[in-house]
Parts: sequence; C-alpha cells; structure tokens
Amino acid sequence: MPEKVTAPKIRAMKQRSEPIVCITAYDAYFGRLMDEAGVDLVLVGDSLGNVLLGHETTIPVTLETMAHHTAATRRGVVRAMLCADLPFGSYQSSVSQCVDSAVTLMRAGAEGVKLEGEYFAEVAALVKAGIPVLGHLGMTPQSVNKFGGPRVQGKGGGGNALIDAAKNLEDAGAFGIVLELIPADLASDITAALSIPTIGIGAGPCCDGQIQVMHDILGLSDRQFKHARRFVDGEGMLLEGLRQYTRAVRGRAFPTEENSF
Ligand code: KIV
Repeated sequence: MPEKVTAPKIRAMKQRSEPIVCITAYDAYFGRLMDEAGVDLVLVGDSLGNVLLGHETTIPVTLETMAHHTAATRRGVVRAMLCADLPFGSYQSSVSQCVDSAVTLMRAGAEGVKLEGEYFAEVAALVKAGIPVLGHLGMTPQSVNKFGGPRVQGKGGGGNALIDAAKNLEDAGAFGIVLELIPADLASDITAALSIPTIGIGAGPCCDGQIQVMHDILGLSDRQFKHARRFVDGEGMLLEGLRQYTRAVRGRAFPTEENSF
C-alpha cells in the first residue's frame, strides 16, 4: 500500500525542498491515472466548468456539481491528497455558509478544500472544524469579471498586498497557497516569506510546487496557454483512434468474429 499523502506531509515537503506535484482531475478514471503517475495532490478544480462543461468561466459551477465530481474522483484516487474547490457563491456570504459548503465536499470524499481570495476568517473557521485549506491568490478565476479578463496580477504595484494576503492566509491556518498568474519574482518573494508551501500556476519556477489543469498538459484542448506545456498530444491521439473506429465500422472491418459471441 503506497504511503498516503496528507496536508502535514505536503507542508513537510517544503521543509525538505521537495517539489510538490499537483494537477486537476474530475473523475475516477483520471484520478486513478494521476495516482499511478505519482502526483502528490489531486484537485477537483472548478475549472471543470471550462474543460468539462464548456462554460467560458468557472462562475456557473455549483456546489452540487463539485460534490458530484469530487465523489467520482475519490473513487479513483488512493495515494494522493484529494482537494476540492469551493465554487463561486458557496463561501462568500458568511463563515457558516463556507463551513457548510466545505462539509458537503468533505462528505463527498475531499480531504481538503481550496477557496479563492482573502477570506481569512473563513479559512480559520474551516481549520478549526478540522478541514485542511488551500488558499488561492493572484488571478483568481472566480473574480475574472473584476479583473476584466484572466490578466497577470501583482505587476507594477500590488505585490506587497499579495505578500500580506499570503501571510494572513498562513496565519489563518492554510496548509498551502496556490499562486496563479503572478510575476515569477513576486511568487519567489511570497514563497520565501512563508513557511507553508506555494503552489504555482503561471507563477514561475520558484514556487514550492506546481499545479496545472490536466487538459492543458495532456493536449486535451485546442487552447495553448503560456503558463502550460503540452507534454503529449492527447487530442491528436484520441482523434486518430476515433477516426480509425469510424473507418472500421463504415468499412465493416469492426466488429469481427473475434468481437462476437
Ligand atoms: O480550478 C482549477 O483548476 C484551479 C487551478 C489552480 C488549476 O483552481
């Protein structure tokens, strides 16, 4: 049985300067693959609104949808720590709304939750309730309308405010912080200022760990982001398989006797 990754183990990886490998997954099949690949933390991200459901933003994603995909991913992930995103509208109203929403995700199988922005009292309440919390600062996608698009944050001022926010999240008890689309130098300063790990996405190489949306690194979309790299042409491979299947059925080359009963 492989050794289970937990929030304290993720924190300890920073002390050992061991890079923390994080990725999103949204179902049991890919959850199992992420585990087999040796990933440390799997996030059921609300990015599922974009990559699975075809929305432009993460804003339409509901708590019910997050719980559904968290439960599915739970059935695939054994070793990695499994975190789930609190979606837009599920934690901003009050501390008690935040705790109730997080309880829903923990009951669905999450081992920790992530929430975006400067919700320090909410983070403290979750930690008090026994729920490990990942913070998320920088270009927080649920606030994309406020930013006027997915723009790099903390450029030309605003850096100190981000450092302060990161420290406040650490003081509130977060076990780590995702830093999204901020300058690499600023991410490096934040990383040095904290004892908890930073997990970067478009935040340069100096973060304690990295996270990516699985579709962006597996080539499962037609989008190419500067912050990502296609490690494999997943879409090309899938299309080739589908075209071969289509040709085989049309040409009566599939199924054969071998596939028949
Ligand atoms: O929803 C998501 O996928 C995220 C990321 C940090 C990748 O929040």
